Amino acid sequence: MAAPSRKPIVAGNWKMNLDGAKARALTAAVAGRQAEAAGVELVLCPPALYASAVADALGLKGGVGPSGVALGGQNMHDKQSGAYTGEVAAGMLRDVGCRYVILGHSERRSLFGETDGQVNAKVKAALAAGLVPIVCVGESLQERESGRTESVVSEQVLASLAGIPAVELGRIVVAYEPVWAIGTGKVATPQQAQDVHALIRALLSRLSSPEVAATIRLQYGGSVKPDNAADLAACTDIDGALVGGASLQADDFLAIARAFG
Ligand code: 13P
Repeated sequence: MAAPSRKPIVAGNWKMNLDGAKARALTAAVAGRQAEAAGVELVLCPPALYASAVADALGLKGGVGPSGVALGGQNMHDKQSGAYTGEVAAGMLRDVGCRYVILGHSERRSLFGETDGQVNAKVKAALAAGLVPIVCVGESLQERESGRTESVVSEQVLASLAGIPAVELGRIVVAYEPVWAIGTGKVATPQQAQDVHALIRALLSRLSSPEVAATIRLQYGGSVKPDNAADLAACTDIDGALVGGASLQADDFLAIARAFG
C-alpha cells in the first residue's frame, strides 16, 4: 500500500487500440465513474491522434477537468520542433491537455530501438515542457532467468534518469514493467514486483535523497487485472499500476483502480 505521502496513480496505456468513437466512449465511462476510485489518480494514455478527443471528453482546461482524470501521451520526441516527420513534441502534448507522458516503454525500446540515452533526453524535454514523465524499465525473460534483473533495471534507471536534479526527480513516476509479463497473462508475483520496486526506490534515493525518493510514485505494469491488483496494491513500494489490455474496458480499469484506493 502506498505511503500516505504518495497518491496512488493508475494509468491506462491504450497502446495502438480503439478508434475515435470508442476512445470517447471509454473516456466518458471512466470519467463518469471516477468517484468509484476516490483517492486514486487516474490517467488515460490514448494514441496521440485521439488525445484531443479524449481531452474534450474529459472537459480538460489547462490539463484539469471536472472529473480529475488526467491525460497522458504514450511517447514523444525530445526536440521541441523541427523536421521530424511523424513525431510529436512535448509542447504539443501539453497543448492538447496532457499532464503525463509514458517514456521508454519496452515496446519503444524493443520494437523501435529506443536507448537509455534517448529516454534520458526525452525525460529532460518532458520535464522542461511541464509534463510528468512515466519512465518505464524492466527486464526480459532471458535477463531474469540469467539472474540479471537487478543489474538491467539498475542500469535502465540510472541511465534514463542521469543528470536530472533532485527537485525534478521528485516529480516523475517510474513504472516497473517486466517484459515477460506484458501482454502475456503472466503477472509478476507481488514479492517479485516488490523486490524490484524496493531496488528502484533505493536507486532513486541515491540519485536524489531518501526524502525525495520516499515521495516518488512507482507503478507496476504487466498483465495487471482486477483479480491480481489487490495483492500488488498491498506491497509497500507499489503505488499504482500501468495497465495495458485491461485498461480498454472501463469495468476492468476501474476495478484495478479501486484496488489501489
Ligand atoms: P498489459 O497490461 O496488456 O500486460 O500491458 C502492460 C503495459 O505494457 C502497460 O504499459
